[in-house]
Amino acid sequence: MDKRPIGIFDSGLGGLTCVREIMKIMPGEDVIYFGDTGRVPYGTRSREMIIKYVEQDIRFLESFDIKAIIIACGTASSAALPWIAEGKTAKIMGVVEPAAKMAVKATRNKKIGVLGTSATVKYGKYVENIKSLCPDAEIIQKACPMFVPIVENGYTESPVAEIIAKEYLSEVKAAGVDTLILGCTHYPLLRKVIGDIMGEGVTLIDSGAAAANCAHEFLKAEGLLKGEGEACEKGRYRYFVSDEVEDFSQLGGVFLERPIDESVQKIDIEKY
Ligand code: DGL
Repeated sequence: MDKRPIGIFDSGLGGLTCVREIMKIMPGEDVIYFGDTGRVPYGTRSREMIIKYVEQDIRFLESFDIKAIIIACGTASSAALPWIAEGKTAKIMGVVEPAAKMAVKATRNKKIGVLGTSATVKYGKYVENIKSLCPDAEIIQKACPMFVPIVENGYTESPVAEIIAKEYLSEVKAAGVDTLILGCTHYPLLRKVIGDIMGEGVTLIDSGAAAANCAHEFLKAEGLLKGEGEACEKGRYRYFVSDEVEDFSQLGGVFLERPIDESVQKIDIEKY
């Protein structure tokens, strides 16, 4: 048993889709969440910049006594996780490997689509991971740079989201994929719009939820869960951001599907 919290971060609100799943499957775990809302988006930046940001985000989370870190961001997991310096004290996990595994398990026709930010598509880590598990899989990637601002601004079910999603999804749909990875943790908020366009036969893989499930398996196997079952005391959640606290509290509730009642604190990430 390990009572220390899990550290989770994203460039903004997207990683809360991972926290939501943790609340469901590991309700006893304490979580420290950092959303780098002052520097979102990461997906249009250079690898050097993303690595610098990720190193700072990890240093901030490591200033607490945490047992593991989940990089709940497809961009950071693709562009930085394989390159970040060794010697971190906590176990660090990303979203790419878990989502690729889940997609390979789900596909029947071995045609898998990957939606992600420009950086995620450029570094091709989803493709690499899927190929290593299923070498004859046919993979079609699509960068969807407009999705993050649509989600961060709360336009998830608007006509504008539908028009842009139709445009982005046309090639992926035409390719006949039966499984589609929502490779950015913001995209599950567009699940309804994406699902309607792709149709019922297509399985959508939520990368944040996949990472939460993988973290659960790891913590359980290593005996690091805080506790499980009825008797387990409820998890505590602390949120930190690098920009406006009010915006995060308000929109964060939509990601979590429950209001954020806990305190949200603003920090200066450049100090880390
Ligand atoms: N949630 C991040 C991801 O999973 C958002 C990307 C961004 O900041 O551009 O990729």
